Amino acid sequence: MLLRVETEAGKGTHQTMMQRTMQRNQTRPSAPPVLAAGHPNRPDWSLEFPHEVDGDLQQDSEWCHLRIHGERRRLRFHDYDQIYLIPGLYEHLFYEKLKCSSPQVIAELLSKQVDASDDSMGDLKILDLGAGNGMVGEALIEAGADSVIGVDIIREAAQATKRDRPGLYEDYLVDDLTQPSSATRTRLDREPFTCLASVSALGFGDIPPLAFCEAFNAVSTPGWVAFNIKEDFLTRRDDTGFCGLIHRMFDEGIMEMRDRRRYQHRLGVSGQPLYYVAVIATKERDVPEPWMAALREENGAVDGSPAAEASPA
Ligand SMILES: C[S@@+](CC[C@H](N)C(=O)[O-])C[C@H]1O[C@@H](n2cnc3c(N)ncnc32)[C@H](O)[C@@H]1O
Repeated sequence: MLLRVETEAGKGTHQTMMQRTMQRNQTRPSAPPVLAAGHPNRPDWSLEFPHEVDGDLQQDSEWCHLRIHGERRRLRFHDYDQIYLIPGLYEHLFYEKLKCSSPQVIAELLSKQVDASDDSMGDLKILDLGAGNGMVGEALIEAGADSVIGVDIIREAAQATKRDRPGLYEDYLVDDLTQPSSATRTRLDREPFTCLASVSALGFGDIPPLAFCEAFNAVSTPGWVAFNIKEDFLTRRDDTGFCGLIHRMFDEGIMEMRDRRRYQHRLGVSGQPLYYVAVIATKERDVPEPWMAALREENGAVDGSPAAEASPA
């Protein structure tokens, strides 16, 4: 099987699936590159969590102090661009300290459903929306996937993935799917995606419903969808727009539920458990154009800016 592989620098190469797997096995560290404090190769940084917070901080307001090069600065958990710049910081913060389990939970639930169907994980072409520094791609590949393409809105995510998990993704696009560049649009139309994965990236000022639907429509029908979302965002108390959208997608047969599980996504900054819902579904048809038009209008009103060409990484 011949695959066209494009790097973030835009250079095209052709590799067989076996060559790519071999390259990935040779270059990819088997575990996240987290070095213990005091390790001679670890940059001089450490984290300090606030002792007292004003009530339970909203997840998108959580912060800690980063001590680096003798200085102490406040780091918001949502300052992904700064976090990805420091090797091992994202892994240390979210996975070691806050015990995030989501990539593994989603990957395992997806592979269980796929294995019970006529499909196989190894044959899926997965679009990882909000891919970050590759933790989800890594979990999907460990669960048997072979072909994963990442997309994230910030270039630091692509750079961190290339630095820490080289060769993991077949390709990694940097773009905003609420207003994709023409190159991304062509790419989404051309790639025969059979699965959308989006982990810990929906809502909270991260991925809005429009970007989710654009990615969803890039997946062929029938296809697979695997995502998680904060429990509250699936209840009627939601103001992210996802509650209504997801319920309507199920009600109108656009997705069909295969598995749904409430689980502890991670700890909050005060140590309290944060619960998310993992959803594994099949895609039965595209989000209809009138819905897309309404989402574009809504998003334009929120964004306030005309559609622009996003720059490639
Ligand atoms: C909490 S991180 C999750 C990263 C990864 N999925 C994981 O589980 O480790 C959320 C990611 O979503 C990305 N993101 C936010 N808004 C986005 C958008 N509109 N389109 C694509 N990615 C977005 C952020 O840049 C960030 O890398």
